[in-house]
Amino acid sequence: TTSNGSVPSPLFKVNSPNVQYTEEHILSKYSYFNTLVTKQADGTMVAEPTETVYEFKTERTVPRVGMMMVGWGGNNGSTLTASILAHKNKLTWRTKSGVHKPNYFGSVTQSSTVRLGVDAEGADVHVPLSQMLPLVNPTDFVLGGWDISGKNLAESMDRAKVLAYDLQRQVSDEMSKMTPLPSIYYPDFIAANQEDRADNLIPGDDKRAHVNHIRKDIRDFKAANDLDKVIVIWTANTERFAELVDGVNDTADNFLAAVENSHEEIAPSSIFALACIEEGTPFINGSPQNTFVPGLIQLAERHKAFIGGDDFKSGQTKMKSALVDFLVNAGIKPVAITSYNHLGNNDGKNLSSHRQFRSKEISKSTVVDDMVAANDLLYAKDEHPDHTVVIKYVPSVGDSKRALDEYECDIFMGGRQSISMYNICEDSLLASPLIIDLVIMTELMTRLQYKTGDMAKFSTFHSVLSILSYMLKAPMVSPGTPVVNALSRQRTAIENIFRAAVGLSANNEMGLEHKVW
Ligand code: NAI
Repeated sequence: TTSNGSVPSPLFKVNSPNVQYTEEHILSKYSYFNTLVTKQADGTMVAEPTETVYEFKTERTVPRVGMMMVGWGGNNGSTLTASILAHKNKLTWRTKSGVHKPNYFGSVTQSSTVRLGVDAEGADVHVPLSQMLPLVNPTDFVLGGWDISGKNLAESMDRAKVLAYDLQRQVSDEMSKMTPLPSIYYPDFIAANQEDRADNLIPGDDKRAHVNHIRKDIRDFKAANDLDKVIVIWTANTERFAELVDGVNDTADNFLAAVENSHEEIAPSSIFALACIEEGTPFINGSPQNTFVPGLIQLAERHKAFIGGDDFKSGQTKMKSALVDFLVNAGIKPVAITSYNHLGNNDGKNLSSHRQFRSKEISKSTVVDDMVAANDLLYAKDEHPDHTVVIKYVPSVGDSKRALDEYECDIFMGGRQSISMYNICEDSLLASPLIIDLVIMTELMTRLQYKTGDMAKFSTFHSVLSILSYMLKAPMVSPGTPVVNALSRQRTAIENIFRAAVGLSANNEMGLEHKVW
């Protein structure tokens, strides 16, 4: 276990001439093997193995980290807050099924393991993913944030109706002292049905003043809590898409000018993102809207600030990105994917409005594209399975979201396979661990640097943190690079980047030692 401001003692040390542990850093030298494929005029290809040497440098001190949530008083924000307090205070609570204690199930960093290697007898040795590199412990997060609803966090938790009463009862006092900071509300961006909760607002309509206000909030929170770093995450309502307008949000300078002029197409989430970029605070977008318009991405690159998004990948889409990957790689051809959802929480209410639903529909719809494109034996060029997404608001099911999916597949010799899936669970209990993972991995990326080729100095990774793809429905990647949606590939990327940082080769499943004489 780790605590803020300390160097955690590692569970394992790598014994290799390419790895060095200093008081401050883990330094590794790593050969990145790839294959360069060149297509020939006659349709054949040449595949050439390539090797690039990278050096990695990871700061070992785990900082004191503040997580600021936009939409803190929502179902995700209040559920996550109560859950972290339950861990901090080592609470137990009773339901009709017995005594429960806090866990971090559903968090890939906290509750999953990776195969470190094999022992002398050839048996696999697994370690927690959280022990591969020095990571922040989520129980140590200092929590804060903004909401357009002024209810305190105890009231928000009660409104959310997610956690068991006996747990709510025990964290209620502490949470009643937590009140979200006033936020930015441009009514045109979220559903009209949210208006009655918007009672905690930063006044005025000067968008530059709003950016500066948020910047000050971040600085004040950092100072008041004696934090080394703050990470901001958008878990507020889904906004409509911002229109992409030439001269407004297409370039960094146009975007800045548009903010200066308080242009109507600049969304609240983009204001938060800009404030973070200018503060050098990482910003992650957990909702589907296009917060990161091209001009904003350029600005993040200019400031070398970290950004990540979009849209938490918690339930239906996570299953889809695992199942379609499996089907297509098994040589089975999904021809139709039909997804229904109904939910009764405030997210569902907001999504019952067409323009906000449209953001979600777009985010959910591209998830199988790369897997389909990867198999031209099953799919002709530009051929796609039919893909339909329906979301309905059914208040009485509350946060317990229902997702019904039908996968219709072409199989051997003209046969058909129909797979039907029915998924029920509390939405916020799936999303909260993802928020933890996003913040923990983003924080790590602020301490992990690389050097390759003739670079004189170490550098941070690219501003757009595509390593977060595993937790995101519509992963943002650096401009011009391919999006990977397949869940297993996304997880493998995390695991192998962590391994490279401690100088271990990428995990492969050859198991040669068990297959030869
Ligand atoms: P929620 O509706 O309970 O919470 C959102 C909160 O944001 C509300 O308290 C609202 O008052 C606040 N808000 C709205 N506009 C704001 C602004 N401009 N500034 C500050 N606060 C503002 O929703 P929930 O269930 O917590 O979900 C949050 C977001 O995460 C939604 O956009 C949802 O689509 C997204 N999401 C959730 C998933 C899940 O719960 N499993 C999965 C994927 C995405």
